[in-house]
Amino acid sequence: MVDRLTSDTTVSLLINNAGFSLLKPLTETPDDVLKNMIAVNVTALTALSKAALVRFKNKGSGTLVNVGSGAGFSPYPGIPVYGATKAYVYLFTQALQSEAEGTGVRVQLVLPGAVVSEGWDVAGGADLEPLPPSIVMSTEDCVDAALAGLDQHELVTAPSLEDEALLQNYQSVASHVLQMMFNQKAASRYSI
Ligand SMILES: NC(=O)c1ccc[n+]([C@@H]2O[C@H](COP(=O)([O-])OP(=O)(O)OC[C@H]3O[C@@H](n4cnc5c(N)ncnc54)[C@H](OP(=O)(O)O)[C@@H]3O)[C@@H](O)[C@H]2O)c1
Repeated sequence: MVDRLTSDTTVSLLINNAGFSLLKPLTETPDDVLKNMIAVNVTALTALSKAALVRFKNKGSGTLVNVGSGAGFSPYPGIPVYGATKAYVYLFTQALQSEAEGTGVRVQLVLPGAVVSEGWDVAGGADLEPLPPSIVMSTEDCVDAALAGLDQHELVTAPSLEDEALLQNYQSVASHVLQMMFNQKAASRYSI
């Protein structure tokens, strides 16, 4: 895929959608599954994003879409590694948005909530039935909303998040926390 992206000048859009989860505590997750999950959700997404960005920046156009997850915002029971891989997608893709600024290249971060898909079977044990229908989006609605977000030139599209101010506030608090951590002195509560 990296070779194809590097050599094929006709590619103008890359959607990093591949990803999977497993509903198990870390201590019960087989080593090969851990390795594969990080390989698909993080390593491949990173390598493909780089190849696409290099190509698109040379052309001065192109669109990269990375699919993260609501699970990347806060630890969710039973998916310790999956949630962390999606937190990676969240930070990494926003960093790429800064890199792409002013280049003609677009980078969209899509953050689905719970969506009907075969991914729930792959995760094992996470049947959709116990979840109230009111919190699970159809695949079609999720994709349509993600594409509408792309049409609206959104940087971050959260298809099922009604109150977009929540996301804006989250981003602004996260950025403030980072800035406040740059401090020569230890915090007074440590009495150093
Ligand atoms: N469903 C949700 O509730 C939900 C919520 C938030 C985010 N997401 C994210 O949405 C994306 C799509 O997931 P989905 O729920 O639609 O699950 P899905 O139906 O199982 O789709 C996952 C896709 O990833 C591909 N894939 C998995 N391992 C791969 C590998 N080693 N190499 C290449 N392709 C691989 C699968 O290809 P094959 O079919 O060929 O195996 C499949 O096309 C994922 O990134 C997921 O984390 C899903």
